[in-house]
Amino acid sequence: MIVEVASLHKTYQTKTGAVAAVAGIDLEVPAGEIFGLLGPNGAGKTTTISICTTRALPTSGSVRIAGVDVVREPARARVHMGVVPQYNTLDRSLTVFENVYFHCRYFGMNGAAARARSEALLQQFHLQERGKALPTQLSGGMQQRVQIARAIAHHPEVLFLDEPSAGLDPQSRIAMWEAVTSLRKEGITVVLTTHYMEEADALCDRVAVVDQGRVLALDTPAALKQQHGVYTVLELKLRDQVSAPALLREIAALSGVARAELTGEGIRVFADQLDGLLPLVVAAARAAGLRDLRVQEPSLETVFLQLTGRELRD
Ligand SMILES: Nc1ncnc2c1ncn2[C@@H]1O[C@H](COP(=O)(O)OP(=O)(O)OP(=O)(O)O)[C@@H](O)[C@H]1O
Ligand SMILES: [Mg+2]
Repeated sequence: MIVEVASLHKTYQTKTGAVAAVAGIDLEVPAGEIFGLLGPNGAGKTTTISICTTRALPTSGSVRIAGVDVVREPARARVHMGVVPQYNTLDRSLTVFENVYFHCRYFGMNGAAARARSEALLQQFHLQERGKALPTQLSGGMQQRVQIARAIAHHPEVLFLDEPSAGLDPQSRIAMWEAVTSLRKEGITVVLTTHYMEEADALCDRVAVVDQGRVLALDTPAALKQQHGVYTVLELKLRDQVSAPALLREIAALSGVARAELTGEGIRVFADQLDGLLPLVVAAARAAGLRDLRVQEPSLETVFLQLTGRELRD
């Protein structure tokens, strides 16, 4: 296992009390895998990555990267890892080329080796024309690719990517996915965090669904959907919550409905058999004052709903 996380806990002391950002996480990632931590804001993704990458200390538990304990031997552990943090950390006063080049020098390459490696990386990530530009002159997607190029410049076995596509437009996101997938050919293991279920689905071999500092489920995207997300979710918003409990009882009794629950704005229906169900649901809900109806096909989003009763986004 290239990444081993065991009984990891991190508690922050704040003015208003203790916050358990990580509340007992166990993970094992084998070499060559693209592994995703999928969870909503505040789930503990960045905290977990920060501990793995020696930027934060755990309250208890351990992390080993390529067999090296990150608390006992942080400097030795860092040789094995590349990191792209959640926020852009390119040096804005250096060119794109220099950002990569000085990283190589920092990790001990001589001038010629660092130059050759930097040129090869800019080529690999389709940035060869932009070497002399400053980071701020590049699009967000290009800057993200420079960050990845820099992070793997010293040939680490594992790359940590915290929210790699946050804020990217769809086209840049696809380019970023291609960049990440290309790392697989080099045998680089990738651990990424995301709160986009499409991204976890498209990119990851296995996904840990995290919420409130814990892993709720861990498997391949396909298996997660099969085990937890076989339901189509109907999200019904009502004009008036008063009618929701009666509507809930009525809809829960319909054939094809696995279960239903109250939300703040109406009810949520988990359906395992959609045939003929929608007209019945709509008729009942209209009588109860239907304001809005949304249908979500089975996906990692509905897996998350099923596991937590909450939406992944907002
Ligand atoms: N330095 C800190 N001091 C106090 N609390 C913190 C600190 N860092 C994180 N937290 C809290 O720990 C919890 C987990 O935060 P974390 O940043 O790890 O979540 P995340 O999953 O990365 O979320 P996001 O999607 O917003 O990036 C949150 O409740 C957050 O407020
Ligand atoms: Mg985060």
